[in-house]
Amino acid sequence: MKRALVNLGITVAFSLSIQLAAAADPDISKLPPAAKKDGLTYEKDIKPLLENSCLKCHGMEKPKSKYRVDSREAFIKGGESEEAAVVPGKSEKSPVIHYVADLVTDMEMPPTDKRDKYPKLTAEQIGLLRAWIDQGAK
Ligand code: HEC
Repeated sequence: MKRALVNLGITVAFSLSIQLAAAADPDISKLPPAAKKDGLTYEKDIKPLLENSCLKCHGMEKPKSKYRVDSREAFIKGGESEEAAVVPGKSEKSPVIHYVADLVTDMEMPPTDKRDKYPKLTAEQIGLLRAWIDQGAK
């Protein structure tokens, strides 16, 4: 019995440390590749793509985590975390990319239990977001 409890303790500690490691260092090898498309802009290419999956929770009315995606500036700036969501020029370092690609446990966007209403972005859409960020997030 005691041994079983010790084993359980070790298992819990081990999986916790895996999760912490994942949070500190998302596995960017799992990201869909950036799209090969030039001249991307927030207004033309990105805003429409966020409408179905993000806007209901991150719009002008009581935005979750005080984060809004309905202007380029706000989408880049981030929310309550006070961490920039977009790092222009570096999609692989942008938290919003890690979240939409489900690389960060408990920060999957849209949240995994809400995806019946708010669909996950497709690999193509994540690729477009990445390309826009890599081109400087204009
Ligand atoms: C059903 C509501 C919901 C939807 C839809 C949703 N989110 Fe979120 N989002 C949240 C909640 C709740 C949090 C706060 C999570 C936390 O901090 O634990 C959050 C936090 C975030 C943050 C962190 C903001 C900060 O700096 O504090 C980002 C970035 C984000 N969401 C991006 C997105 C994107 C991009 C989409 C669409 C692909 C999206 N979210 C869709 C509910 C939602």
